[in-house]
Amino acid sequence: MKTYFVTGGAGFIGSAFVKQVLDRKPDATIVNYDALTYAGNLANLEDVDSDRHQFIRGDICDRAAVMAAMPEGCDAVFNFAAESHVDRSIESADEFLRTNVIGTQVLIDAARTKGVRRFVQVSTDEVMGSLADDTNDYFTEDSLLQPNSPYAASKAAAEFVVRAARETHGVDAVITRCGNNYGPRQFPEKLIPLMIANAFNDEPLPVYGDGRNVRDWIYVGDHCAGIWAAFERGIDGKAYNIGARNEQFNIDVVTSILDALGKPHSLIKYVTDRPGHDRRYAIDPTLAETELGWKPMVTWEDGLRSTIDWYLNNSDWVNNVRNGEYQEYYAKMYGGR
Ligand code: NAD
Ligand code: DAU
Repeated sequence: MKTYFVTGGAGFIGSAFVKQVLDRKPDATIVNYDALTYAGNLANLEDVDSDRHQFIRGDICDRAAVMAAMPEGCDAVFNFAAESHVDRSIESADEFLRTNVIGTQVLIDAARTKGVRRFVQVSTDEVMGSLADDTNDYFTEDSLLQPNSPYAASKAAAEFVVRAARETHGVDAVITRCGNNYGPRQFPEKLIPLMIANAFNDEPLPVYGDGRNVRDWIYVGDHCAGIWAAFERGIDGKAYNIGARNEQFNIDVVTSILDALGKPHSLIKYVTDRPGHDRRYAIDPTLAETELGWKPMVTWEDGLRSTIDWYLNNSDWVNNVRNGEYQEYYAKMYGGR
C-alpha cells in the first residue's frame, strides 16, 4: 500500500482529488488533514471508501498536530489547504499569509522530518499575474511570478517556500499551477456556483466591471489528474502549468448559465469592479502534455452542463452552505455594490 497525506481534502478540489485517487489507485491509502474552515465540508466526502481514507481535523499551521498526523515515510504530501478566494484576501490578507505561507513551511518541515518521498504544492496561475487583452501571450513555466492580489502573493510566497526547501535541504518537490476550476461542490463564493445559485433563485447576477475579464476554465477532475501526473512523472524541482485551452469572457460564462437554466439576461447586474482585477489568464499547458503525458478529458460544454445539473440535484448541499455565515459574507461583499 502507498500512503498519501492530503491537506485541504474537505474543500472543493481536495475532495475531488481524494475521491479520484481512491477510485483509480486501489493501493492508495489517504490521510486527509483539513481544518474545516468555512470552505471545508465533510459532506464533500460522504461517498468516500472509508477503509482507505482517514480524516483528521487539524490546522496546517499547528506544528505539533501536523507532526502527529503525517505518517512516517509516506509517499507524498499533496498540499491543497489554503485560503482560496481573492475577494476575501482583499478584505483581509492575514489569514492568507498565515495558512498559505506559514502553513506550507510547517508542512515542509514535517515532510523533512518524516522522510516524505515527494512534496506536491498545488499552486495557481494567478501567481503569474495578468495577461493583456487581445494578445497571443500565454502563461508558461518561464513566466515571471508577479502576483497582483494578496491571495496570489501568498501563493507565490508558498512556491518560494517550497523552492527554498528544495535548494537548501534537498526536498523532492513539484509545483502545479492551474487555472480556474469548476465542477460539483465548489463553494458559492466563486463565479460559477454563485451565478448558478443566484440564477436559480431569480436573484441578480453581480458581474464585476465590464464583464470582459478572461479566465481559463478547467473541469476539476482534469485538474486532479494533472496533479497526480505531476506527482508520478514530474521532474523534481519543476513547475507544471495545467490548463484546458478554454478561455472565456466572464459575461459569456454568466449568459451560458442563464441560458442553460432558461432564465432572462435581465438578471445580470454590472457592479463595481474588484480592486486590482486581473484582466486575462491563459495557460499554455504544452509542458504538462508532453512531459507528463496529461491532457484534459472534459469539454467545456459537457462540464458546465453536468456542473449545473449537480447543483440543481443537490439543493441540500447548496442550502447548507448558503447559511448564516454566507449570508453575512454576501451582504458585506455585494450589499450596495
Ligand atoms: P477551497 O477553499 O474550496 O478549500 C480549501 C480547503 O482548505 C478547505 O477544506 C479548508 O477547510 C482547508 N483549509 C483552509 N485553511 C486551512 C488550514 N489552516 N489548515 C488546514 N486546512 C485548511 O479551495 P479549492 O478551490 O479547493 O482550492 C484548493 C487548492 O487549489 C488551493 O491551494 C488553491 O490555491 C488551489 N487552486 C485553486 C483553483 C480554483 O480554481 N479553485 C485553481 C488553481 C489552484
Ligand atoms: O485562476 C485560478 C484561481 O481561480 C484560483 O487560484 C482561485 O483560488 C480561484 O478562486 C479563482 O480565482 P478568480 O478570482 O479568477 O475566481 P472567481 O470565481 O472569484 O472569479 C472569476 C472571475 O469572475 C473573476 O474575473 C471575477 C469575476 N466575478 C467573480 C465573482 C465572485 C464576478 O464578475 N462576479 C462575482 O460575483
